[in-house]
Amino acid sequence: MAAPSKSKPAPWTNRRRRWRPEGSLAVVTGASSGIGRELTLLLAGKGCRVIAVARRRERLEELVAEAKRLSPKAEVIPIVGDVTDMSVRDQALEQVRVLGEGKLDLLVNNAGVGGIGRFMDADPERMRQIMEVNFHAPVEWTRGAMEMLRNAANDFPTRQCTPVICNIGSVLGHRAVPEKSEYCASKFALHGWSDSIRAELTSDGIAVVLVSPSTTKSEFFDSLVGTEAGQKSKSFGSWPADRVARAAYAAIVACRSEVILSLGGKALVYSDRLTPPLVNAILARTIENAD
Ligand SMILES: NC(=O)c1ccc[n+]([C@@H]2O[C@H](COP(=O)([O-])OP(=O)(O)OC[C@H]3O[C@@H](n4cnc5c(N)ncnc54)[C@H](OP(=O)(O)O)[C@@H]3O)[C@@H](O)[C@H]2O)c1
Repeated sequence: MAAPSKSKPAPWTNRRRRWRPEGSLAVVTGASSGIGRELTLLLAGKGCRVIAVARRRERLEELVAEAKRLSPKAEVIPIVGDVTDMSVRDQALEQVRVLGEGKLDLLVNNAGVGGIGRFMDADPERMRQIMEVNFHAPVEWTRGAMEMLRNAANDFPTRQCTPVICNIGSVLGHRAVPEKSEYCASKFALHGWSDSIRAELTSDGIAVVLVSPSTTKSEFFDSLVGTEAGQKSKSFGSWPADRVARAAYAAIVACRSEVILSLGGKALVYSDRLTPPLVNAILARTIENAD
């Protein structure tokens, strides 16, 4: 009888999944303010080189200076442009080729926009624009970066660092609310897509982390798409952006599949899982009362 073959274990088995900042290379989109800015500073301070992407050049220049001020060895490489423009993605990935020999350890799809107001009162362009930035852009940045993430995964035995795709979602990607239909749709799409590719990429040794913040103090509500002036978000409490960034960082390091942030956020998501009809009724009442 033939002896059982001692085939080599598949590279992803017996691996303790973990991510390390030291000596890593990351791409963070939406790095010019809020969560993306804070996460960039955190990563850079811990020895990760960060390719920081956003449209506002002066904000990125300020970010580079701030990172150096906090930690003289910090390396933040700015790429100015719109995440929906694939030539901007290609510029960022070219930097990965040059600086990281084609290996990318972390992609943070963070750039995002919102909009407030009833679906039927909105210009159809609001849906298109929000879906482009919040969903199609992360999809295409991930597609473009995949080969480089796989190159980093193949380096696991040497570096003991699992490459991570971190998508910044929202609690509204778990439970939708009225008057943010476009935003909820975009974050639900991001959530579903993240769950699906997480399973697909397990065999490649790449982790997919979905971070779902609740209301966060940032510039988010200053740049709403297709929204009448004076429209306010109906949300309770908020976390500062640096707290959200620290929670996202912890999730990345531990290669967590999903984190839902804040007590209010967890209350919304878990009460909906327990009793969706009750949450539907409460949300419908908030709209009726506003009429
Ligand atoms: N704030 C909240 O209450 C909240 C709650 C849950 C989830 N989130 C999510 O958290 C993420 C970060 O938001 P934030 O709160 O930190 O808001 P923020 O301060 O407004 O930051 C958004 C970032 O995205 C960038 N951005 C927006 N559109 C872009 C585009 N087309 N191309 C390139 N960059 C673009 C902005 O930079 P430029 O303008 O310079 O391009 C900015 O750096 C978003 O995905 C958001 O959906 C936020």
